[in-house]
Amino acid sequence: MQIVHAIAQLRLALQGNSPVALVPTMGNLHAGHLDLVRLAKQHANCVVVSIFVNPLQFGANEDLASYPRTLAADCEKLQAAGASIVFAPAVAEMYPDFDGHQLNQSISVQLPPIAQDLCGASRPGHFAGVATVVLKLFNLVQPQFAVFGKKDYQQLFIIQELVKQFNLPIQIIAADTVREPSGLAMSSRNGYLSAAEKTQASQLHAALLDMVEQLKSAQADWLSLQQAATLKLQQQGWQVDYVAIRAASNLQAATSDDRDLVVLAAAKLGKTRLIDNIRVKL
Ligand code: PAJ
Repeated sequence: MQIVHAIAQLRLALQGNSPVALVPTMGNLHAGHLDLVRLAKQHANCVVVSIFVNPLQFGANEDLASYPRTLAADCEKLQAAGASIVFAPAVAEMYPDFDGHQLNQSISVQLPPIAQDLCGASRPGHFAGVATVVLKLFNLVQPQFAVFGKKDYQQLFIIQELVKQFNLPIQIIAADTVREPSGLAMSSRNGYLSAAEKTQASQLHAALLDMVEQLKSAQADWLSLQQAATLKLQQQGWQVDYVAIRAASNLQAATSDDRDLVVLAAAKLGKTRLIDNIRVKL
């Protein structure tokens, strides 16, 4: 496995390698990330994992500075998982006009209104930052395949739209969410949770499972389901950003005709913001 930091090194390492599968990450890798690598290996001999904490997708009051950076441990895990190349660039490598403070990335991807909804409502500009860095990574690596997790369902949807609308010759592979035995979706941000919060954190997934059960038994209307789940989480001490039932195909508000749904939630436990979702076919 080669570890490269510079774009020129990356291009050299990629020479003669095809097909290539890319797994974009921000590092601090857990079993969910490694599952993406496993899936990538099923599609391509050469698996590139990028590790880059992308400042463009963090808001001013978010955790950019404290986001865990664990490159040495990540590389050990990736070596064991069989990755071919780790691309871990510095900020100035990804943002050529970075002056040490400002990124000065004045060109970015303009996204449809769904990017301002759900997580985009509480994180303005987040998805434009994600789409811009992912497009850069696609340009740099030129993979035939790229693997993303369903855990970030809205991100996955936006990347699929990016690939479609920009006619990129890349097949997006969607990986199932890997969870702790408690049901908590694995996330680099779980490391922020205290022991007590970590025990409590499975309530988010439990709330979604509860909604899925009720959706399937058609006992309540969807608005009441969303409101009841929000209230229960609030009573359990969560600050809820949203609980939403959406059409799985386009993330628009679901109507009673929609049969393929996704139930999504984002909420804060203490200072830690967690997200989760479950797809449900009625
Ligand atoms: P990061 O949060 O590191 O996640 C990298 C990839 O791992 C994403 O595709 C995410 O959906 C997937 N992932 C995270 N937790 C998972 C889990 N429990 N099960 C399965 N997959 C999981 O998402 C990002 O980084 C960034 O926004 C990025 C796409 C790299 C752009 O900067």
